[in-house]
Amino acid sequence: LEPQSFNTDLVIQLASTPNPKPDVSTFGSTFTDHMLTIEWSATEGWQAPLIKPFGNLSLHPACSSLHYGIQLFEGLKAYRGDDNQLRLFRPMLNMNRMSKSAKRACLPVFDQSELLECIRRLVEIDQDWVPTTDESSLYIRPTFIGTELSLGVKKPAHALLYVILSPVGAYFSVAGALSLWADPKYTRAWRGGTGDCKMGGNYGCSLYAQYEAEDYGCQQVLWLYGEDHQITEAGTMNIFLHWINEEGEEELATPPLDGIILPGVTRQSILELTGKWGEFKVKERYLTMSQLCSALKQQRVKEVFGSGTACMVCPIGHIVYQGESLHIPCQDNNSQLTSRIVKELKDIQVGGCTNTHAH
Ligand code: COI
Repeated sequence: LEPQSFNTDLVIQLASTPNPKPDVSTFGSTFTDHMLTIEWSATEGWQAPLIKPFGNLSLHPACSSLHYGIQLFEGLKAYRGDDNQLRLFRPMLNMNRMSKSAKRACLPVFDQSELLECIRRLVEIDQDWVPTTDESSLYIRPTFIGTELSLGVKKPAHALLYVILSPVGAYFSVAGALSLWADPKYTRAWRGGTGDCKMGGNYGCSLYAQYEAEDYGCQQVLWLYGEDHQITEAGTMNIFLHWINEEGEEELATPPLDGIILPGVTRQSILELTGKWGEFKVKERYLTMSQLCSALKQQRVKEVFGSGTACMVCPIGHIVYQGESLHIPCQDNNSQLTSRIVKELKDIQVGGCTNTHAH
C-alpha cells in the first residue's frame, strides 16, 4: 500500500491562555498547551491534520484500541541548544519505525515527511515548553490508535493519529547504576511476535515482571530469551556489553535485530558512533547469561549499560540471576564508555548535526 497524503493543509487552533510551566518532575506527567490530531477512515482517507489546545479524547466505548490493543506509539525528543535553537534528534528514524509498527498493527500507512512537518509545527508552537536546563528536553509522543466502532476483531476502518508533548528530565528517579532481575520465566518478546514494534502491549505486559523484580530488590527486568538464556533487553531499554570477548578482543556488543529486539534510535546511534571511533570491535551478536557469567568470573567485563530515548544511556551495576547477585563493574573501573557516549550524543543532540527538519 502506498502511503496516502493528509487530505488538506494543517489547521491550527491556538489555546486562548497558555498554561503555567511547572518544574519538570516525574517523567511524562506534564503536557504542553497543544496537541496534533489526524483522523483517518477507510472511506475518506486522511483528514486535515489539526493542531488544537491539549485536551481529552472522546472515544466510543467499543473503540478497538481499548479492546484489542490495536495501537502503537513513538518516543523522540526536542532539545534546546546553547544557541537557543530547537533540534529534533534523528526524527525520520522514528517516522520510519512508526510506519513499520503501523503495518504490523494493520493501521494505515501515512506520509512520513508530512507527519514530521506537522510535528515540527507543533513543537514550534509550544517552543516555550522546551526546557532550558541540561538533562531536560521535550519528549514527543506520537500515538496511533484504532478507533473502529465495533467489537469484531478486524482491521480498523477508523483510526486516529495524535501527538502530545511532555517536558521531561531524567527518566529514572534514582540516579546511578541500575540493578536488574533476570528470570527466564517471563518473556518480553518472541520470534514472530511484535517485540520489534513499538506497541503499547509490549510495555503493558512487562509490568507484572517489573513489580516482581522490585520484590527482589531490583529496579528493572533483564529480559532473557530461549533455552540458552539469551540477553535481549533491559526494562524498556536496549542493552550493551563492553567486554573482552571470547577471542580476547575488546568489543562493544548488543543483540542483533532478529525480530525480538526493539530497533532503538539510541541503539543505532551508539553503534554508528562507536563504530566511527574505530577503537574497538563493535558488533551485533547473541549474548547469553553463561557467556556473561564466565566473562565476569574472568574479569573480562568492562561495562554493561542500557540505552533508550527516555534515559539515553544508563549503566547497569547488578544483575540478580539464579539466586546470585552478579556485580558488574561500571563507573568503578577504568572504562568510562557510558560517560563518553553520553557526552558525544548530547553534543550532537544540543549542538546539532541534525535539526528540526527531516534528516
Ligand atoms: C524510550 O526510551 O523512549 C521508551 O520507549 C521508554 C518509554 C516506554 C517511556
